[in-house]
Parts: sequence; structure tokens; C-alpha cells
Amino acid sequence: MSTETLEWPQATKWLHTCLAILITFELMSELDMKAIWKRKGELHFRHLLFHAHMWVGMATAVVIVLFWLHIYYNKQVRAHLFPYRGSYLQNICLDITSLTNGSFPKSGLRGGLPGLVQGFGLLAVTGMACTGFIMFFLIPNFGISAPIHIYQIPKKIHDYISEFVWVYWWVHIGAALLHFLRSPRIPKIFKV
Ligand code: HEM
Ligand code: HEM
Repeated sequence: MSTETLEWPQATKWLHTCLAILITFELMSELDMKAIWKRKGELHFRHLLFHAHMWVGMATAVVIVLFWLHIYYNKQVRAHLFPYRGSYLQNICLDITSLTNGSFPKSGLRGGLPGLVQGFGLLAVTGMACTGFIMFFLIPNFGISAPIHIYQIPKKIHDYISEFVWVYWWVHIGAALLHFLRSPRIPKIFKV
């Protein structure tokens, strides 16, 4: 089984840093935002957060499209995030075995457990971006009046996927911090 590890390409580091900041903002803004059409007695700040959530969400969607283009053109990044064959797949078993012995998986482009989890995370945020993108065009006049009924379909899917994104956010950052205690190479993903 392969334990070879490749460094992160510069483009991956840039895209990841943008995604980490934008998705974190989206999750935090959601905690206190209020739709503009639900006006009565609401603080202006809450409506401002709602506006910010929509526009930053659209910017996040652009970054996610760029991320998928990057995955399309870079074989190693693709095999890392979707480790379905070869040493990238075998590393999953290796990682589970070493976790039971108390040691963390190696960092970098090598598939395995971290790659698999990160790939799922990317799929989850892509789901948020797709549904949010549709909602954006169903909200009339920048949210002055309530959207038509069909809006509830992407909205319910958006709400549902958000549970996975929250779990991913906690698990991913938790794992990165734990990892950092053992491997000084971890912060390299942010060294652009
Ligand atoms: C919340 C949104 C985030 C998403 C969707 C996300 C997604 C990803 C993905 C897909 C990767 C694999 C590398 C790549 O292809 O870019 C990755 C790696 C990594 N992320 Fe994040 N990330 C997020 C936030 C964060 C935050 C806030 C931190 C800071 C603690 C972080 C720390 C790391 C580290 C250290 C790695 C490298 C791990 C390794 O070497 O295996 N991420 N992340
Ligand atoms: C791309 C990353 C995005 C993330 C991570 C994200 C995250 C979230 C979360 C966690 C919620 C709360 C769900 C719940 O109540 O359970 C939410 C709600 C919502 N999001 Fe997003 N969002 C994103 C993009 C967008 C975009 C592009 C729009 C554009 C319109 C948008 C519009 C909304 C709206 C309208 C709500 C519901 C507010 C309400 O009426 O309660 N989101 N989002």
C-alpha cells in the first residue's frame, strides 16, 4: 500500500482558503439572519445578514465552480477527493488500521480517509450552492416580497443539506486541529 504523499498545488491552496472563509461566513450568517419579507419587529442587522448570505452565497457558488474545474484538470486532486481505486483507495484501509493503533493519517494528496471525507464535504457544499443559486432567482425584488410557492422545494433541500455541512464543518476543523498537534505539515494548505 502506498504511503507516498504529494504536496498541495498552489491553485488548491487558494481555492481551499477562499472556500474555508466563505462557507464559514455562510454558516455563521445563517445563525441570526431573517428574510426581508418577514419584516415586522426585526432588527435591520438581521436583514443585512440575510442580504449578505445571499450575495456571499453567490460568490461561494463561483468558487465552487472553479474548484470543480480544478478537479477536472488535476488528476491527483481528483483521485485524492474521490479515492475509488489504486493506492488512493487502499490508503482508506491503511488509515482505519492506523487510527485503531492511535496514529493519524498522513496529510497531503494521497486519498485515504481524509480525502474521502473532504470529497463528501465538497459534494455537500456544492448541494448548498446549487439550491441557493436557484433560490436567489426565486426571491423577488431583493426579498421585498415573499417568494412564490415553488421556492419551498430548493429551500427544503437547502435546509436539509445544511445539517451535513454543519457536521462536516465541526468534524473537518476538529480533525485538522487534532492533526496539527501531531503533524506540523498541516497548516501548509493555507500557505498560498
Ligand atoms: C468550511 C468549509 C471547508 C471546506 C468545504 C473544506 C474543504 C476541504 C477540502 C475539499 C480539502 C481537500 C483539499 C482540497 O482539495 O482543497 C480540505 C483540506 C484541508 N482543510 Fe478544509 N475545508 C473547509 C474549511 C477548513 C477550515 C476552516 C480549516 C481550518 C482549520 C481547514 C483545514 C484543512 C486542512 C488542514 C486540510 C488538509 C488536510 C490534509 O492534509 O489531509 N479547512 N478542506
Ligand atoms: C453556498 C453556500 C451556502 C451555504 C453553506 C449556506 C448555508 C445555509 C444554512 C446553514 C441555512 C440555514 C438552513 C436551516 O434553516 O436549517 C441557509 C438558509 C438559507 N440560505 Fe443559504 N447557504 C449557501 C448559499 C446560499 C445562496 C447562494 C443563497 C441565495 C439566495 C442562499 C439563501 C438562503 C436562504 C433564503 C435561506 C433561508 C432563510 C430563511 O428563510 O430562514 N444560501 N443557508
